[in-house]
Amino acid sequence: MKITKICCIGAGYVGGPTMAVIAQKCPHIQVTVVDLNEQRIADWNDPNPENIPIYEPGLSEIVAEARGRNLFFSTDVDKAIDEAQMIFISVNTPTKTYGKGKGMAADLKYIELCARQIARVAKQNKIVVEKSTLPVRTAEAIKSILDNTGNGVQFQILSNPEFLAEGTAVADLLNPDRILIGGDTTQEGEEAINSLVEVYSNWVSKDRILTTNVWSSELSKLTANAFLAQRISSINAMSELCEKTGANVNEVAKAIGMDSRIGPKFLKASVGFGGSCFQKDILNLVYIAKSYGLNEVADYWEQVIIMNDHQKRRFSNKIVQTLYNTVADKKITFLGWAFKKDTNDTRESAAIYVADDLINEQAKISVFDPKVSKTKMLSDLDYLETRENKNNLDALSVFDNAYDACKDAHAIAILTEWDEFTTYDWKRIYDSMHKPAFIFDGRNILNAKQLESIGFVYNGIGA
Ligand code: UDX
Ligand code: ADP
Repeated sequence: MKITKICCIGAGYVGGPTMAVIAQKCPHIQVTVVDLNEQRIADWNDPNPENIPIYEPGLSEIVAEARGRNLFFSTDVDKAIDEAQMIFISVNTPTKTYGKGKGMAADLKYIELCARQIARVAKQNKIVVEKSTLPVRTAEAIKSILDNTGNGVQFQILSNPEFLAEGTAVADLLNPDRILIGGDTTQEGEEAINSLVEVYSNWVSKDRILTTNVWSSELSKLTANAFLAQRISSINAMSELCEKTGANVNEVAKAIGMDSRIGPKFLKASVGFGGSCFQKDILNLVYIAKSYGLNEVADYWEQVIIMNDHQKRRFSNKIVQTLYNTVADKKITFLGWAFKKDTNDTRESAAIYVADDLINEQAKISVFDPKVSKTKMLSDLDYLETRENKNNLDALSVFDNAYDACKDAHAIAILTEWDEFTTYDWKRIYDSMHKPAFIFDGRNILNAKQLESIGFVYNGIGA
């Protein structure tokens, strides 16, 4: 089937940027992104492309180019489904917060609602593409809903997981390591796969487009995220050992990364990984393994999460211990709240958990993040099930620049690796703080020697 109209359900961190790039690279395809959230769609349609709801380097320029030409954002989900030959499902699949699999399994209620809506509306054959990360064999469930509740039209289900990382979404989409497409091995399945291969081959060379069966594709996404997160937990485990032994984790990472079998990427020790994917996908993997009775497999992967939780808690404990075992009423400044640099996304950010620990110790937290609003920070804290009290408004002050945020602080904690933090006038910051002035560099981005020469007491991760 030659694709001329695409619909994407879900205008979030995955759907928005992915469709913007497809629209830019395929001017002959009309791409409509729909969402139930009216505010989100209004923000995507904001006349000033700088105000779109997701911050990603390079994204506003692409939206400015394609929007109104062949890229559209709408709340009319039915119309977009009806018109499109190919429908991407990019809705969120958070970890379940209730019932069976609570805290582990992926919540598929949004996916199921999409499938039912597609089944109700579709009057011609459609290709349905799973873009959201899903448990293995979700395609089967979607197919069963579509085939049994639809209007007798044919559906082909493809799995096409997204491997983009936030902060580099546009670069990852424009120049992906690979595109993975899983589909049925029947003739109709292969035709559907080819239709999607044609879309991507407008800008991705065919040798980077990998086709597999549906289950391999679904499981590959979970596996990729589990392996990436495992590398971070592995180096973070070493960081604790480094602190005890006098080794330096940055040096260890460099030394092992030069082994071509290991490679240098994803070996940065940190306060712990965050983001919407790693924890959710590993919990999901653990849940799937347990549901097949594979307890050793489940325990093996669960340890990646246990290590990450430990790393976050260890960081807040270290702050309390170093500040003479009490942080009550002390001002501690967080530089960074986003889960990584170059994004305004805060989902599962280590900052939230470290703030929670320190607020429970009655510290006063001041925050500066170049892209995250105070409303977002407060809702992140309110949302935490573990919050002992709800004194967030008293405990959290948010500033629009780092110098004001650090004034009169007892300690600074670096939670996000924003580049601008390395360019500050650290002497000026030191002079404005209580002494001794402590820095806890949760990202190992600052120059320890230089800060120590100013007078700071510097604590990195694993050094
Ligand atoms: C991840 C995967 O990389 C991506 O392929 C998938 O599609 C979605 O999940 P994302 O969560 O956006 O992407 O960002 P990523 O760059 O992977 O970082 C995740 C977390 O790990 C961040 O908190 C980051 O700061 C942390 N991290 C990353 C480290 O602590 N050390 C590292 O060496 C790398
Ligand atoms: P992701 O990081 O996976 O893109 P987001 O939460 O950023 O996740 O985006 C998912 C989007 O999907 C949200 O904007 C949400 O409103 C939207 N959504 C969820 N269910 C539906 C649905 N049935 N129809 C349309 N949009 C939906």
